[in-house]
Amino acid sequence: MPKVTFITRDGKEVVVPDGCGTLMEIGREHEIEGIEGDCGGVCSCSTCHVYVSPEWMERVGPPEDMEDDTLDFNEQRKANSRLGCQVELTDALDGLVVEVAPAED
Ligand code: FES
Repeated sequence: MPKVTFITRDGKEVVVPDGCGTLMEIGREHEIEGIEGDCGGVCSCSTCHVYVSPEWMERVGPPEDMEDDTLDFNEQRKANSRLGCQVELTDALDGLVVEVAPAED
């Protein structure tokens, strides 16, 4: 199973060696602070917001329209923002590194 590393809001690295599901599901399962998934993964809350490490951006790809719209309402959005509930961890993403975005004010 693919490995994913979360960089937490306090700068620690949490390595999940055998991730399964979406980044939101994995983050919740491993109690990563800031990955809450309040809407259950339907792209409407943005409490699963992560920044994808630049070297992974091409492989992860850009958000679909609905995700893009939700991210537009998030003041912490950056060019490498994704909603964790919309990124399924596949073998092609083995080794992925993401940073948990700061909370909205
Ligand atoms: S869990 Fe709500 S937008 Fe991802």
